[in-house]
Amino acid sequence: MTPSLLRNFVVLFDLFVILATTTSAQGPPAVSGETLTTRFWDCCKPSCGWNGKASVTDPVRSCDKNDSPINDFNAGSLCAEGGSATTCTSQQPWAVNDTFSYGFAGVYISGHDKELENFWCCACYQLDFTSDPLKGKTMIVQASNTAYDVKANRFSLAVPGGNTTSDTCAKQFGVEQTVFGEMGSGVTSLENCDSLPDALKPGCEWRFNWFNDTLYPTANFKRVTCPTELTSKTGCIRKDENASSSLSPAITSALVVASFVALLLSA
Ligand SMILES: *[C@@H]1O[C@H](CO)[C@@H](O)[C@H](O)[C@H]1NC(C)=O
Ligand SMILES: *[C@@H]1O[C@H](CO)[C@@H](O)[C@H](O)[C@H]1NC(C)=O
Ligand SMILES: *[C@@H]1O[C@H](CO)[C@@H](O)[C@H](O)[C@H]1NC(C)=O
Ligand SMILES: *[C@@H]1O[C@H](CO)[C@@H](O)[C@H](O)[C@H]1NC(C)=O
Repeated sequence: MTPSLLRNFVVLFDLFVILATTTSAQGPPAVSGETLTTRFWDCCKPSCGWNGKASVTDPVRSCDKNDSPINDFNAGSLCAEGGSATTCTSQQPWAVNDTFSYGFAGVYISGHDKELENFWCCACYQLDFTSDPLKGKTMIVQASNTAYDVKANRFSLAVPGGNTTSDTCAKQFGVEQTVFGEMGSGVTSLENCDSLPDALKPGCEWRFNWFNDTLYPTANFKRVTCPTELTSKTGCIRKDENASSSLSPAITSALVVASFVALLLSA
């Protein structure tokens, strides 16, 4: 290359680096796909509530039976013998308007069998529903849990009274398990939400209002930066929230300096 060609090349490269770093917004790694959604509310400690599941500020907050946060992330789950940690009632869905809701989910994303929870714990995903009558509605959920019962894309939405799989909720609230509805499907009507413990009624009612009591709606999902509306309730933020900027600021400045040196040498 002649010096002037090299010079032009280096100038263009510098422009490219500067343009790329100023226009590429920082955000989480790109993850997307299609999924089926289910429901759960098992009153267990969320699976992302244990230490060491993913690179995060703190694991997902768990609560005791009285809904007070438990500071010991190694505390056993109420679902296991002798455990006391359960799902904080604040980790239920709520509607912002007719087309947008926030919530929490047990997630499974196929193709990541080596990483599993390390890949999704505390990540946030936008769900754009694709089946009627939810088509056109969107949720942003944080993965607080894992849907281990399938090896396919799955978002199981945390909905109080939305599904009954054990008697742990009865144990937590000192009520009959029938209050939480039928095995495999939960309560059957908006009126039944009235029987739930007060703190859980809004999320139960959300299902019959905003969510139209749909069964297994499908959605397109994509990873998004977690909003504080969700992280303030879990206390969990992933370390890779800003990972998508392809060049880190340090590498970018090193590249710019190196190419300026090349520019000077070629002049
Ligand atoms: C309830 O949970 C079970 C077990 O995970 C699941 O098979 C079922 O589809 C769920 N029901 C709903 C309505 O999501
Ligand atoms: C609903 O709320 C979301 C999130 O705040 C907002 O982006 C959207 O524009 C709102 N939609 C309507 C119809 O108000
Ligand atoms: C869905 O629920 C809304 C109330 O939130 C209601 O107005 C609408 O008719 C329902 N749609 C269907 C198809 O059930
Ligand atoms: C991501 O970047 C924003 C803006 O620079 C910053 O406030 C936030 O703390 C960063 N998040 C992480 C997890 O590093």
